[in-house]
Amino acid sequence: MTIRRRLALSHFAILLLLAFNLVIYYSSDLKRKSTFEELRRAISRQILISSIQQKLNDYQKQVSLLSQITADLSNSGASPEEVTQFSEHLNDIGGQITQMSSLSDAGGKDKIEAFRKAFGELSASWQVFYENFGRNQSRAITEVVTRGEPLGRKVMQELLPQLQQDERNRIEAASTHFYDTARITDRLTLLIFVISGCLAGPLALFVSRHFTRGLDALRAGAAALGAGKLKYRIPVLSHDEFGDLALSFNEMAERLDTARRELTGVNAELEHRQHELKMLMQAAQTANQAKSRFLANMSHELRTPMNAIIGYSEILAEEAEDLRQEALIPDLRKINSAGKHLLTLISDLLDLSKIEAGKMDLDLETFDIREIVKDVSVTMQPQIDKNFNKLLVDIPPRMGTMRADATKVRQMLFNLLSNASKFTRSGTVRLQVRRNDVQGKDWIEFSVRDSGIGMTPEQAEKIFDAFTQADPSTTRKYGGTGLGLTITRKFCHMMGGDIRVESALGEGAVFTISLPAEVIPEQELTGPAEPLALPPVASHRG
Ligand SMILES: Nc1ncnc2c1ncn2[C@@H]1O[C@H](COP(=O)(O)OP(=O)(O)OP(=O)(O)O)[C@@H](O)[C@H]1O
Ligand SMILES: [Mg+2]
Repeated sequence: MTIRRRLALSHFAILLLLAFNLVIYYSSDLKRKSTFEELRRAISRQILISSIQQKLNDYQKQVSLLSQITADLSNSGASPEEVTQFSEHLNDIGGQITQMSSLSDAGGKDKIEAFRKAFGELSASWQVFYENFGRNQSRAITEVVTRGEPLGRKVMQELLPQLQQDERNRIEAASTHFYDTARITDRLTLLIFVISGCLAGPLALFVSRHFTRGLDALRAGAAALGAGKLKYRIPVLSHDEFGDLALSFNEMAERLDTARRELTGVNAELEHRQHELKMLMQAAQTANQAKSRFLANMSHELRTPMNAIIGYSEILAEEAEDLRQEALIPDLRKINSAGKHLLTLISDLLDLSKIEAGKMDLDLETFDIREIVKDVSVTMQPQIDKNFNKLLVDIPPRMGTMRADATKVRQMLFNLLSNASKFTRSGTVRLQVRRNDVQGKDWIEFSVRDSGIGMTPEQAEKIFDAFTQADPSTTRKYGGTGLGLTITRKFCHMMGGDIRVESALGEGAVFTISLPAEVIPEQELTGPAEPLALPPVASHRG
C-alpha cells in the first residue's frame, strides 16, 4: 500500500471517529434538552396548580364566609362592578387551567379537562351565588348548599390533589429521566473517547514505524554511498514510495559505480597518455636542443663560405667592370644578391635557434637614438626606392639616448621597415620615434606606418608565430620566410618591451615597438645566463 493511501486511510479513520463523537454529542444534547424541557414544563404546571389551588381556596373561603355573614344582612349585595371583577378573577383561573393544559402532554390532558369541567361548574355556581347574594339571599344560599359546596369539595379535595399528585409523579419521572440520559450520554462519550484513543494510538504507531523503517533504510544507504561504498544496495521493504525511492537510489548507486569504474579506466588511460606525452616532449626538447646546438655550431661553417661567396662575387664584378667584360656583370650581381639573401636567411635561422636555446644575450650600451634611426633610414633607402615608396622619418630633435642592445634595435627597425617597403607599392612609409612617460618610467616608442596591403585581424593575430605569413600566397608574391617579426618580438621581450600591430585589409599597417629607455640586463631579472657561443647577427632583407 502506498504511503499516500496509508495516510488517507488513517485520516479517514480519524475523521470517522470524530464524526461519531459529534453524532453522539448532538444526540445526547438533544436528549438532555428534551428531558430538561419536560422537567421545566412539569415544574411550571405544578406552580400553576399551586396558584390555582391558592386562589380557589381563597374564593371558597370568601363564598362560605359571605354565605354565613349575609344571613344577617339584607339588600346589601355585590355591586355590578364587584360581580364583574369576581367573574374576571374566575376567568383568570380558567386561563391558568388552559395554560396548564397547553404545557401538558396527551396523557395528562384528560384529567385537566375533567378538572376544567368541574371548575367551570363551580365557577358558574359561585357566580350565581354572587349575583344573588344580598338580593335574593335564599337563592344564593340554596345555590351554595346544593351545588357550590359539593362541587367545591370535588374540585378541592378530589380533582386538585389528584392533579398535584400526578404532577409530582411526572416531575420525579422527568428528573429521573434527565439524570439517566445524562449518565448514559456521559458513558457513551467516554466510551467513544476510549475507542478513539485505542484506535488512534496503534494507527499512529503503525504509520510512524513504517516511516521510520523506510527512512532508516534510506539514511543508511545515503551514509554508505557518502562513505564511497558504491556496492551498497538498500533493501526494498515495501511496495510504496519508500520502495520506489530505494529502487531509484539503488539504480543511482549502480550508475555511479559504473561511472567510477569507467572513470578509473579513463584515468589510467590518461595517465598512460600523459606519460607518453611527457616522453615525446622530452624527445622533442632533446631534438630541438640538438637542432639548436647544431645550428649554433654550424653558424661559422655556414656564414664563412657565404661571406666568401658575397665578397668574391663583388670583387669579380668589379674586375669584370675593369676588364670591360659587361656580359658577366649581371650574373655576378645575381650571385651576390642570392648570397646576401641566403646569408640573411641563415642569420635569421641562427638567431631563432640561439634564442630558443637560451644562448642569445643582450649587449647593452648607451647610444644616441637619432643616430641609429638616421643610420637605419639611410641603409633602408635603396629598398624603399625599389617599390617607389617614400620614407618619412619623424623624430624630435632632442630625442636623447637610450640604454639597450643597439644591434638588436637596429635589426628590429630593419625588419619593420623592410616589411613596410615590401608590402607597400608607390606609397608612404613613416617611421615615428617618441619618448613617453609611463607610470614614472621612460619608454621609447618606434612606430612604422605604411599605406600598403594591410591585414585582416585574423591574419594580424598569427604573424608573430615563427614561419607564419599572413597569407599562403605571400611567399610566392613577396618572398620571405616568416621569421622577421618572430625574432623582432623575441628581441622586444628580451629587452622588457613589446610589439603590437594595428591594421586593416587594404589600409596599411602600423607596427609599434615599445622599449624601456633603460633596459635592465636579463641577469638582474632572471639570474646569470649561459655564455655566448656566437656574436649577435644583424640582418636586413627585402
Ligand atoms: N607592413 C606589413 N603589411 C602587410 N603585411 C605585413 C606587414 N608586415 C608583415 N606582414 C605580414 O606578416 C608576415 C610575417 O612577417 P615577417 O616579417 O615575420 O615575415 P616575412 O616578411 O614574410 O619574411 P622574413 O621577414 O622572414 O623575410 C608577412 O609575411 C606578411 O604577411
Ligand atoms: Mg619580414
